[in-house]
Amino acid sequence: MRLFVDSANMDEIRTAASWGVLSGVTTNPTLLAKEDPTIDVRERLLEIHRLVGGHISVEVLSTDTAGMLREAEDIISWLPEAVIKIPMIPEGMAAVRELTRQGIPTNVTLVFSPAQAIIAANAGASFVSVFLGRLDDIGSDGLRVLSDICEIWERQGMESEIIAASLRHPMHLVEAARHGSDIATAPFRVLQQAMKHPLTDLGLQSFLADYRRLQEEQTRARQASLVP
Ligand code: E4P
Repeated sequence: MRLFVDSANMDEIRTAASWGVLSGVTTNPTLLAKEDPTIDVRERLLEIHRLVGGHISVEVLSTDTAGMLREAEDIISWLPEAVIKIPMIPEGMAAVRELTRQGIPTNVTLVFSPAQAIIAANAGASFVSVFLGRLDDIGSDGLRVLSDICEIWERQGMESEIIAASLRHPMHLVEAARHGSDIATAPFRVLQQAMKHPLTDLGLQSFLADYRRLQEEQTRARQASLVP
Protein backbone atom coordinates (compact mmCIF):
# COMPACT_ATOMS: atom_id res chain seq x y z
CA MET A 1 0.00 0.00 0.00
CA ARG A 2 1.40 3.37 -1.07
CA LEU A 3 1.28 6.43 1.18
CA PHE A 4 0.11 9.92 0.24
CA VAL A 5 -0.06 12.92 2.53
CA ASP A 6 -3.41 14.70 2.68
CA SER A 7 -2.29 18.30 3.08
CA ALA A 8 -1.71 21.64 1.38
CA ASN A 9 0.75 22.85 4.01
CA MET A 10 4.33 23.25 2.76
CA ASP A 11 5.99 22.66 6.14
CA GLU A 12 4.10 19.40 6.58
CA ILE A 13 4.66 18.27 3.00
CA ARG A 14 8.36 19.21 3.07
CA THR A 15 8.90 17.24 6.29
CA ALA A 16 6.93 14.20 5.13
CA ALA A 17 8.75 14.26 1.77
CA SER A 18 12.11 14.33 3.57
CA TRP A 19 11.28 10.94 5.15
CA GLY A 20 11.25 9.35 1.69
CA VAL A 21 7.99 7.48 2.25
CA LEU A 22 5.58 9.52 0.12
CA SER A 23 4.22 8.49 -3.27
CA GLY A 24 1.97 11.50 -3.66
CA VAL A 25 -0.20 14.23 -2.23
CA THR A 26 -3.96 14.77 -2.09
CA THR A 27 -5.42 18.21 -1.57
CA ASN A 28 -8.96 19.50 -1.26
CA PRO A 29 -10.57 22.96 -1.05
CA THR A 30 -10.78 22.80 2.77
CA LEU A 31 -7.08 21.98 3.12
CA LEU A 32 -6.19 24.88 0.78
CA ALA A 33 -8.52 27.23 2.71
CA LYS A 34 -6.60 26.42 5.93
CA GLU A 35 -3.50 28.03 4.43
CA ASP A 36 -2.56 31.72 4.40
CA PRO A 37 -5.38 33.48 2.47
CA THR A 38 -2.79 35.26 0.32
CA ILE A 39 -1.46 32.02 -1.21
CA ASP A 40 -1.49 31.63 -4.95
CA VAL A 41 -3.24 28.25 -5.22
CA ARG A 42 -1.75 27.39 -8.59
CA GLU A 43 1.78 28.21 -7.37
CA ARG A 44 1.20 26.16 -4.21
CA LEU A 45 0.11 23.09 -6.16
CA LEU A 46 3.06 23.41 -8.54
CA GLU A 47 5.42 23.76 -5.57
CA ILE A 48 3.95 20.64 -3.95
CA HIS A 49 4.37 18.67 -7.16
CA ARG A 50 7.95 19.91 -7.70
CA LEU A 51 8.79 18.77 -4.18
CA VAL A 52 7.09 15.37 -4.01
CA GLY A 53 6.51 14.32 -7.63
CA GLY A 54 4.27 11.29 -8.13
CA HIS A 55 0.54 11.58 -7.62
CA ILE A 56 -1.12 14.94 -7.05
CA SER A 57 -4.89 15.17 -6.80
CA VAL A 58 -6.43 18.56 -7.54
CA GLU A 59 -10.13 19.02 -6.85
CA VAL A 60 -12.59 20.86 -9.10
CA LEU A 61 -15.08 23.30 -7.59
CA SER A 62 -17.84 23.20 -10.21
CA THR A 63 -20.89 21.04 -9.61
CA ASP A 64 -21.97 20.82 -13.27
CA THR A 65 -20.32 18.56 -15.83
CA ALA A 66 -19.32 21.30 -18.27
CA GLY A 67 -17.80 23.39 -15.48
CA MET A 68 -15.82 20.41 -14.16
CA LEU A 69 -14.48 19.67 -17.64
CA ARG A 70 -13.47 23.32 -18.14
CA GLU A 71 -11.66 23.31 -14.79
CA ALA A 72 -9.96 20.00 -15.56
CA GLU A 73 -8.74 21.34 -18.91
CA ASP A 74 -7.35 24.42 -17.18
CA ILE A 75 -5.62 22.42 -14.41
CA ILE A 76 -4.03 20.04 -16.93
CA SER A 77 -2.76 23.03 -18.97
CA TRP A 78 -0.49 24.17 -16.09
CA LEU A 79 -0.06 20.85 -14.21
CA PRO A 80 -0.20 18.07 -16.82
CA GLU A 81 0.50 15.35 -14.21
CA ALA A 82 -2.55 16.30 -12.11
CA VAL A 83 -5.18 13.74 -11.20
CA ILE A 84 -8.53 15.52 -11.36
CA LYS A 85 -10.53 15.07 -8.19
CA ILE A 86 -14.24 14.91 -8.90
CA PRO A 87 -17.09 14.67 -6.38
CA MET A 88 -19.28 11.56 -6.29
CA ILE A 89 -22.36 13.16 -7.86
CA PRO A 90 -24.12 12.32 -11.16
CA GLU A 91 -22.65 15.39 -12.93
CA GLY A 92 -19.27 14.25 -11.65
CA MET A 93 -19.67 10.77 -13.11
CA ALA A 94 -20.39 12.24 -16.56
CA ALA A 95 -17.21 14.33 -16.21
CA VAL A 96 -15.21 11.25 -15.17
CA ARG A 97 -16.45 9.35 -18.21
CA GLU A 98 -15.41 12.19 -20.54
CA LEU A 99 -12.02 12.74 -18.86
CA THR A 100 -11.37 8.99 -19.03
CA ARG A 101 -12.16 9.11 -22.75
CA GLN A 102 -9.56 11.88 -23.09
CA GLY A 103 -7.00 9.82 -21.12
CA ILE A 104 -7.02 12.18 -18.11
CA PRO A 105 -6.82 10.40 -14.72
CA THR A 106 -9.52 11.05 -12.13
CA ASN A 107 -9.96 10.55 -8.40
CA VAL A 108 -13.60 10.26 -7.34
CA THR A 109 -13.89 11.82 -3.90
CA LEU A 110 -16.50 11.77 -1.12
CA VAL A 111 -17.22 8.06 -1.52
CA PHE A 112 -19.02 6.66 1.52
CA SER A 113 -20.55 3.36 0.33
CA PRO A 114 -19.76 0.30 -1.81
CA ALA A 115 -22.61 1.29 -4.16
CA GLN A 116 -20.99 4.68 -4.81
CA ALA A 117 -17.60 3.03 -5.34
CA ILE A 118 -19.07 0.64 -7.94
CA ILE A 119 -20.69 3.57 -9.77
CA ALA A 120 -17.42 5.53 -9.78
CA ALA A 121 -15.47 2.54 -11.11
CA ASN A 122 -18.02 2.10 -13.92
CA ALA A 123 -17.62 5.76 -14.89
CA GLY A 124 -13.94 4.93 -15.40
CA ALA A 125 -12.42 6.50 -12.25
CA SER A 126 -8.69 5.88 -11.98
CA PHE A 127 -8.93 6.27 -8.18
CA VAL A 128 -11.82 6.01 -5.72
CA SER A 129 -11.38 7.82 -2.37
CA VAL A 130 -13.24 6.12 0.46
CA PHE A 131 -13.69 8.42 3.49
CA LEU A 132 -13.25 6.41 6.68
CA GLY A 133 -13.09 9.05 9.41
CA ARG A 134 -16.18 10.95 8.33
CA LEU A 135 -18.20 7.70 8.46
CA ASP A 136 -16.87 6.97 11.96
CA ASP A 137 -17.69 10.57 12.95
CA ILE A 138 -21.41 9.91 12.35
CA GLY A 139 -21.37 6.59 14.21
CA SER A 140 -21.01 4.46 11.10
CA ASP A 141 -18.14 2.02 10.43
CA GLY A 142 -15.68 3.39 7.87
CA LEU A 143 -13.44 0.33 7.90
CA ARG A 144 -16.40 -1.98 7.31
CA VAL A 145 -17.28 0.02 4.19
CA LEU A 146 -13.66 -0.07 3.01
CA SER A 147 -13.36 -3.80 3.60
CA ASP A 148 -16.60 -4.44 1.66
CA ILE A 149 -15.26 -2.35 -1.24
CA CYS A 150 -11.91 -4.19 -1.21
CA GLU A 151 -13.69 -7.55 -1.20
CA ILE A 152 -15.90 -6.54 -4.14
CA TRP A 153 -12.85 -5.24 -6.03
CA GLU A 154 -11.03 -8.52 -5.50
CA ARG A 155 -13.99 -10.63 -6.55
CA GLN A 156 -14.89 -8.51 -9.58
CA GLY A 157 -11.39 -7.55 -10.71
CA MET A 158 -12.33 -3.85 -10.63
CA GLU A 159 -9.59 -1.62 -11.99
CA SER A 160 -9.90 1.72 -10.13
CA GLU A 161 -7.31 2.05 -7.39
CA ILE A 162 -8.74 2.36 -3.89
CA ILE A 163 -7.56 5.27 -1.75
CA ALA A 164 -8.36 5.04 1.97
CA ALA A 165 -9.00 8.69 2.86
CA SER A 166 -10.20 10.77 5.81
CA LEU A 167 -7.89 8.86 8.14
CA ARG A 168 -7.94 9.81 11.81
CA HIS A 169 -5.31 7.53 13.39
CA PRO A 170 -2.60 4.98 12.54
CA MET A 171 -4.94 2.00 12.96
CA HIS A 172 -7.01 3.33 10.05
CA LEU A 173 -3.82 3.09 8.02
CA VAL A 174 -2.96 -0.42 9.21
CA GLU A 175 -6.48 -1.73 8.66
CA ALA A 176 -6.64 -0.11 5.21
CA ALA A 177 -3.51 -2.07 4.27
CA ARG A 178 -4.88 -5.28 5.81
CA HIS A 179 -8.08 -5.01 3.79
CA GLY A 180 -6.15 -4.46 0.55
CA SER A 181 -6.41 -0.71 -0.11
CA ASP A 182 -3.94 0.34 -2.82
CA ILE A 183 -3.18 3.69 -1.21
CA ALA A 184 -3.77 5.50 2.07
CA THR A 185 -3.80 9.28 2.14
CA ALA A 186 -3.11 10.43 5.66
CA PRO A 187 -2.91 13.77 7.43
CA PHE A 188 0.66 14.67 8.43
CA ARG A 189 -0.18 14.07 12.12
CA VAL A 190 -1.28 10.48 11.39
CA LEU A 191 1.93 9.78 9.44
CA GLN A 192 3.94 11.14 12.41
CA GLN A 193 1.97 8.98 14.86
CA ALA A 194 2.35 5.93 12.61
CA MET A 195 6.12 6.24 12.77
CA LYS A 196 6.29 6.46 16.56
CA HIS A 197 6.43 3.71 19.16
CA PRO A 198 7.50 4.24 22.78
CA LEU A 199 9.60 1.05 22.67
CA THR A 200 11.51 2.44 19.66
CA ASP A 201 12.40 5.58 21.62
CA LEU A 202 13.32 3.60 24.74
CA GLY A 203 15.31 1.07 22.71
CA LEU A 204 17.25 3.79 20.92
CA GLN A 205 18.01 5.59 24.19
CA SER A 206 19.37 2.40 25.75
CA PHE A 207 21.40 1.41 22.63
CA LEU A 208 23.08 4.82 22.64
CA ALA A 209 23.61 4.86 26.43
CA ASP A 210 25.08 1.33 26.39
CA TYR A 211 27.47 2.19 23.59
CA ARG A 212 28.53 5.41 25.37
CA ARG A 213 29.26 3.31 28.47
CA LEU A 214 31.32 0.86 26.40
CA GLN A 215 33.35 3.73 24.95
CA GLU A 216 33.92 5.21 28.44
CA GLU A 217 35.06 1.81 29.74
CA GLN A 218 37.44 1.38 26.80
CA THR A 219 38.87 4.87 27.38
CA ARG A 220 39.35 4.10 31.07
CA ALA A 221 41.01 0.74 30.22
CA ARG A 222 43.35 2.44 27.72
CA GLN A 223 44.30 5.09 30.25
CA ALA A 224 44.90 2.43 32.94
CA SER A 225 47.21 0.47 30.59
CA LEU A 226 49.27 3.62 30.02
CA VAL A 227 49.80 4.15 33.72
CA PRO A 228 53.12 2.46 34.65
C1 E4P B 1 -9.22 12.91 0.54
O1 E4P B 1 -8.64 13.04 -0.50
C2 E4P B 1 -9.67 14.04 1.39
O2 E4P B 1 -8.85 15.17 1.17
C3 E4P B 1 -9.62 13.76 2.84
O3 E4P B 1 -8.98 12.61 3.24
C4 E4P B 1 -10.61 14.44 3.69
O4 E4P B 1 -10.60 13.96 4.99
P1 E4P B 1 -11.15 14.72 6.26
O5 E4P B 1 -12.33 13.97 6.74
O6 E4P B 1 -10.02 14.68 7.24
O7 E4P B 1 -11.48 16.14 5.85
